Amino acid sequence: MIIEFDKKYLFDIYKLGSLLNRDYSRLYDEESLNNGVNKTFLCVENEKLIGFVHIQDLIDEIDIINIVVSEENRRKGYASKLIEYVINYANNRKIILEVSDQNVNAINLYKKYNFIEINRRKGYYNGIDAIIMEKK
Ligand SMILES: CC(C)(COP(=O)(O)OP(=O)(O)OC[C@H]1O[C@@H](n2cnc3c(N)ncnc32)[C@H](O)[C@@H]1OP(=O)(O)O)[C@@H](O)C(=O)NCCC(=O)NCCS
Repeated sequence: MIIEFDKKYLFDIYKLGSLLNRDYSRLYDEESLNNGVNKTFLCVENEKLIGFVHIQDLIDEIDIINIVVSEENRRKGYASKLIEYVINYANNRKIILEVSDQNVNAINLYKKYNFIEINRRKGYYNGIDAIIMEKK
């Protein structure tokens, strides 16, 4: 089940976020995950946090900032549910994201939902390209 941000999961969000960046909890305080622009949608099963997607709602455009699913729950369709929720939320507005050229799993996930490469930042992540993708 996908739900809107709920503070009671903040500790679990930080645990999952540490899979993305070891400084995750310092980079993203509660306000930067959930305010007028930033929204974090949670995938929860039996009150346990399975994954989340953090987006920025920029009115005419939605940016996907981060998406993560706990390691033991991958390849079960949870990220797909989160992406579908964002697509539905966007309601035909533009959706943009940035992903490392080497993150094959994430690129496959985005391609599954018709995201295509629109730009590339050469060497952006320590020599690895960043790909900018947009939902078509
Ligand atoms: C990327 C990530 C969110 C995918 O989550 P998931 O719940 O396993 O994804 P799903 O089960 O919904 O899979 C959706 C699609 O993603 C792709 N995919 C996911 N894992 C994959 C893998 N290990 N190998 C190849 N493709 C993969 C497939 O196209 C898959 O569709 P399919 O099952 O019909 O083949 C997860 O691997 C993750 O949390 N990775 C670490 C964080 C990260 O890199 N986030 C993205 C950058 S912010």
